[in-house]
Amino acid sequence: MNVLVVGGAGYIGSHMVWLLAQRGARVVTLDNLSSGHRDAVLAGQFVHGDIADRNLLDRLFRSQRFDAVMHFASCIQVGESSREPIKYYQNNVVNTLNLLNAMHAHGVGRFIFSSTAAVFGEPEYVPIDEMHRREPINPYGRTKLMIEQALADYDAAYGLKSVCLRYFNAAGAHPEGLLGERHEPETHLIPLVLQVASGRRPHVTVFGRDYDTPDGTCIRDYVHVLDLAEAHWLALLQLMDGAGSAAYNLGNGSGFSVQEVIGATQRICRREIPVRDGPRRDGDPARLVADATLAGSLLDWTPLYPDIETIIAHAWDWERRMHPVSELLRSLLEPT
Ligand code: UFG
Repeated sequence: MNVLVVGGAGYIGSHMVWLLAQRGARVVTLDNLSSGHRDAVLAGQFVHGDIADRNLLDRLFRSQRFDAVMHFASCIQVGESSREPIKYYQNNVVNTLNLLNAMHAHGVGRFIFSSTAAVFGEPEYVPIDEMHRREPINPYGRTKLMIEQALADYDAAYGLKSVCLRYFNAAGAHPEGLLGERHEPETHLIPLVLQVASGRRPHVTVFGRDYDTPDGTCIRDYVHVLDLAEAHWLALLQLMDGAGSAAYNLGNGSGFSVQEVIGATQRICRREIPVRDGPRRDGDPARLVADATLAGSLLDWTPLYPDIETIIAHAWDWERRMHPVSELLRSLLEPT
């Protein structure tokens, strides 16, 4: 199998490239390195470039035959999407359409799309299944929904088959420490809490304690990055078997509050995590938990690392591997 992974130098994409290579697929990564890292691409061919560049896409699709394209390259920060919608509509919509149009022109007919729980907006019920109405409450979610809708139209008109995978909260790292999360700036809860544990940050701020949840902090469904990659692999096999287009919600079906994540991290790292209370962050629903029954039954997807402790432990191994100096300083400064 020959797969083009767009955004294969990023957090989830790099785990995907590794998994595809493990399974014997031929992989080409296309990444503009705006947020990804060249050294995270552990296998296959690397092309430095942007999906906005139609000439580059034409050359790539002419030079080799791809069975499928996986698309991980997008802007992902909810707050930023409200402040800079141009960036989000340009990257996530216009550039993705450029990619789809090039695929169509060159007869590449299978596409796996990184979608998000943000397409649902404020949930009417949890856990959220695929029947839940899609009404995003921020530009980020709207850009992802637009592509989901375009994909339905491209299938109806051109027969382009796609699978939309709606991640809830991607977290964790490669279990053997080969890969992990390296966002700049980091905005996600688990890596931020781990940066406090390793001494790289003084404290973590809890965004709101007045939500309608048992401890007042937001509840999320954290799903291991390698389990997400596995879902892509299963979706690829399904498309190769001739299956039709589909969309699946991907999460473990259990929610953890911000406070619970901090507590679990303290236990795993055996460190006190200084916490400050801050105001709510705009666009944060109180509770996002996936009903992934459909992915279980139709994709045969069973997460290998469903428990939050394993997810945090893998991310902690990665944090210490990437920043051994702050880890050393921290242990020297710690009272014995
Ligand atoms: N949080 C804090 N303090 C922080 C960072 C986060 O309290 O310093 C809280 C957030 O308010 C939220 C929870 O921790 O309640 C998780 O926040 P993340 O930023 O880690 O993740 P999000 O739930 O905001 O975002 C994730 C993906 C998005 C996706 C969204 C779906 O990263 O791409 O889920 O709603 F859009």
